Amino acid sequence: MDLTKRPRRLRSSEILRKMVRETRMDKSSLVYPLFVREGSNIKEEIPSMPGQYRYSIDRMGEKLQELADAGVSSLMFFGIPDKKDELGSLAYCEDGIVQKAFSRAKKEFPQMYLIGDVCMCEYTSHGHCGVLKGHDVDNDRTLELLAKTALSQVQAGADMVAPSDMMDGRVGAIRSALDKNGYENTPIMAYSVKFASSFYGPFRDAADSAPAFGDRKTYQMDFHNRREALKEAAMDVEEGADIVMVKPAMAYGDLIREVKDMVNVPVASYSVSGEYAMVKAAAGAGWIEEEKIMCEMAASAYRAGTDIYITYYAKELAKCMDKGIIG
Ligand code: PBG
Repeated sequence: MDLTKRPRRLRSSEILRKMVRETRMDKSSLVYPLFVREGSNIKEEIPSMPGQYRYSIDRMGEKLQELADAGVSSLMFFGIPDKKDELGSLAYCEDGIVQKAFSRAKKEFPQMYLIGDVCMCEYTSHGHCGVLKGHDVDNDRTLELLAKTALSQVQAGADMVAPSDMMDGRVGAIRSALDKNGYENTPIMAYSVKFASSFYGPFRDAADSAPAFGDRKTYQMDFHNRREALKEAAMDVEEGADIVMVKPAMAYGDLIREVKDMVNVPVASYSVSGEYAMVKAAAGAGWIEEEKIMCEMAASAYRAGTDIYITYYAKELAKCMDKGIIG
């Protein structure tokens, strides 16, 4: 056969396949989401996320050590308070759960990079991501509380803040609060393109943050939209976001790519709780190979343009990178 082009030539051995690989991944780009709760001596498994736990502060060090040993050095913290109220006041309180977790983690693991998820839904009695006016979230009043929350996390030891609430103007509000208080060098990773997604179901069990009524569609995005995704990302960069995020990751690779091609800041993607739960459930039933699926999902996120990958599988992926299964 007279074929000048034979793509199979470059697939003929493992060494060659790795030499020509187009997507390279690195442990330094992995971020692990950690749930911390009040109480002591607690490590409780999250029923809808087998293998993931809520830790009390005195035991979270076990997880930080495991991550450090695997070479994962960045974490995103989610706090689960004891009490909730209308205004989510434990989100921005000096001895709130996540603030205590930051100061302890900073002391015990100074080499690790700590990111604070900034949102009110774990802290409000109604489970919405801000202050209510009637049955909807009051955007502008919420901004003030989000800025206070971000500042209190940074004062407690967070190295970076990541607003996930989807209020308009929150990146600008947080930037100016941080700057006014001398934290002009603390970066903001904005959950810019965050959809109203059913893939967050297991997270809401984990963080006890499901809305008591209605849904999040007046602030999180409609998943039919792509131009709106580009608008949100552009606005956040304009307001001072240092990193923008697309969330969820798996079903949104098209938008990871489009955002990546448009912005000139790093792009994060978040492989959310529902993605994790689906893999675990199918693997538990013996229908898929967990490790291979996990690696393939990660590669697809990076191939789409992900620079920073937030995933419950951070430790396991790091191990696969060490073993050369992906990377
Ligand atoms: C807080 C927040 C959520 C997630 C991250 N930050 C839940 C939500 O918006 O309902 C989801 C993470 C996941 O599903 O893993 N607003």
